Amino acid sequence: MSEKILAANFKTNHTRASTRDYVGALDAGMEKMGYDAPVYLFPPATALESFDTRSDIRIGAQNAYPTVKGSFTGEIGLEQLGEFDIDTVLLGHSERRHILGETQEFVAQKYSWFQERDFTIVYCIGEPLEVREAGDEAVRRYIVEQLEGIDTSYGKLILAYEPVWAIGTGKTATPDLIEATHATIKNLSDRPLLYGGSVKPANIAEILAVPGCDGTLIGTASWEVESMLSMLSKVKGEK
Ligand code: PGA
Repeated sequence: MSEKILAANFKTNHTRASTRDYVGALDAGMEKMGYDAPVYLFPPATALESFDTRSDIRIGAQNAYPTVKGSFTGEIGLEQLGEFDIDTVLLGHSERRHILGETQEFVAQKYSWFQERDFTIVYCIGEPLEVREAGDEAVRRYIVEQLEGIDTSYGKLILAYEPVWAIGTGKTATPDLIEATHATIKNLSDRPLLYGGSVKPANIAEILAVPGCDGTLIGTASWEVESMLSMLSKVKGEK
């Protein structure tokens, strides 16, 4: 199996102190099992730091505003990220689109801004349940819209397909559905493509074995470091 990309999205979980403990334990665990592929970690903004790790742990921001600094109450920009040498950002997550009301236009604006600054961008796409129920063509059109204004050939883009109905619900998409949707997305971009949505130790091996799945973006099951390490060991076992 070629090198898989694993990413952990802490969402609104963990503190600075618990993130430090987590990174320490993850680093030690990765070293012990000889895990040398990169692992991306998206802690909350208050826990961002430049960690000195022996393993390839890359810290990214869950969100940032397209500005160096300025008057954008509640947001963080390049100045705040630069303090910790953060050059990775997660954009387009469904929770930001649907709960925080980010439009495609705004997400694309952020994307271009961070692309110009050479960031690694993990860009999320994925359909809500009613679109999935409307069929494959509806899903394809929805995804095409979520790629509007996005340079899908950007060399530092990592795509993440996350069906909204599978996020945090325990309802994982079936391998067949992941394979079919990934094939659709691969026709639109040749960048690495992760799957996200209720990935956990019990199903990660099966998901990573799906043709066209280059890794996983994990929420809930990544929050306990033992669970994350258990998933990494499964990836290792697959190699
Ligand atoms: P989940 O979240 O693993 O809890 O479903 C995935 C995500 O939102 O990135």
